[in-house]
Amino acid sequence: MLNYKKMLIVLALSLPSVVNADEFTKADLAQWDSEFQTVVKQGRAAFTDPALGSNGVVCAQCHPNAANTHPETYPKFQKQIGKVISLWEMVNWCLRNPLEGQPLAADDPKMTALVAYITSERKGVKLEAGKH
Ligand code: HEC
Repeated sequence: MLNYKKMLIVLALSLPSVVNADEFTKADLAQWDSEFQTVVKQGRAAFTDPALGSNGVVCAQCHPNAANTHPETYPKFQKQIGKVISLWEMVNWCLRNPLEGQPLAADDPKMTALVAYITSERKGVKLEAGKH
């Protein structure tokens, strides 16, 4: 059995190969981008899906093209919740309040799709966590 110190040394010695391990083929990149775009498309569809809520209201009514969602400012303090939160928690705030629906688990594929769509609409915008 390795002790803690020896494990650290083994880890440190193996780090360079871990860093170099990330070499992707063009086919990998094309496949992953296509999977990402599929999920973004699901998120775009969810933005106009009244089934997410209970009152017929949809995300796109207040956030057309994901406007005013500011994913680049998360995590940040949100006064509705009273603490620093991640983007998915704000999505749940809107699901519960304007849509009068049920919140989604952070790892629900629908949450991933909503976050993928919101974030992809802001591609290239500088990250500014905490900004208001
Ligand atoms: C009736 C209007 C309305 C609807 C519908 C609505 N929202 Fe919001 N949304 C708001 C308001 C108001 C805020 C709070 C703005 C603030 O405090 O920054 C907000 C904030 C947000 C934020 C954070 C924005 C920021 O600047 O920090 C996200 C992300 C968001 N909504 C996503 C969604 C999603 C996803 C849906 C659909 C599930 C949705 N919203 C539906 C009104 C709405």
